[in-house]
Amino acid sequence: MQPNSPQLVTTIDELRKKLLEVRRAGRRIGLVPTMGALHEGHLSLVLASRESCDFTVVTIFVNPTQFGPDEDLDSYPRTLDADMRALARCGADLVFAPANSEVYLPGHQTWVEVDTVAKPLEGSCRPTHFRGVTTVVMKLFNMVGAEAAFFGQKDYQQALVIRRMADDLNVPTEIHICPIIREADGLAMSSRNAYLSSIAREQAVVLSKSLRLAEELVDRGELDAGQIIERMREVISAADLAKIQYITLADPQTLEPVEEISGETLAALAVVVEDTRLIDNCLLLPGK
Ligand code: PAJ
Repeated sequence: MQPNSPQLVTTIDELRKKLLEVRRAGRRIGLVPTMGALHEGHLSLVLASRESCDFTVVTIFVNPTQFGPDEDLDSYPRTLDADMRALARCGADLVFAPANSEVYLPGHQTWVEVDTVAKPLEGSCRPTHFRGVTTVVMKLFNMVGAEAAFFGQKDYQQALVIRRMADDLNVPTEIHICPIIREADGLAMSSRNAYLSSIAREQAVVLSKSLRLAEELVDRGELDAGQIIERMREVISAADLAKIQYITLADPQTLEPVEEISGETLAALAVVVEDTRLIDNCLLLPGK
């Protein structure tokens, strides 16, 4: 049997009309924001939404305002037909894929900006990134009016920033953060993995390898952040195509670096492999 294709909607008017009917029928709406080029990581969010909501809206929008001037906006993969087929298989109900002009009106000049928690890590490497993310996600929240929205831990800081924004601006949508889905060798799934040459793809495993090492070290009682970071650095340096942008062990709520692991700690890193910037993270739990 052919799975049902989700409805494809491209305008805000049409989206609101469809969702009004859904809401009138008393159905709980789940939102999964994406930039498309969907993989199992994205689809896991759709499944999470289906578990706790009656109607799942997936948005596909390559948001120009979150890309820096030297970043990959033009080359970012756009695969709408394949995305629609994947979403049919996992039971999404509606796909909203607007054009840039539908989302950003001429003369757009309003931004949503989260302060401290958006500054370190990704914020320091990509200074205008989070302002673009929070602005578009707030717009999507306003367009969809979902009861719940689903994000991946893969982009840990993004999820934290969005949660902060939702709390600070009294957004009535519940924010759910779902686990990282990985390839068999440990590489975190990402639309940008498609850029990797075969040799870079092999070497990209060093990100998750370094995080596994950090977990092992903590399990064996190593609590000195500097020591752990040094060992992670060695793992990554073994890959000649990999250039570290940052490795941090930080408080999982404030993102302030820690010197000693004394409670749950975020290990996060950004590494450029060949020309592709990859990020990954995990939560370290001492005394497990
Ligand atoms: P995108 O990179 O397409 O990711 C969409 C969602 O999928 C994000 O919540 C991201 O954390 C999640 N995701 C990506 N890879 C994952 C993986 N391996 N496992 C689990 N979840 C994963 O993130 C964005 O788009 C944009 O910034 C967006 C929030 C849509 C705003 O434009």
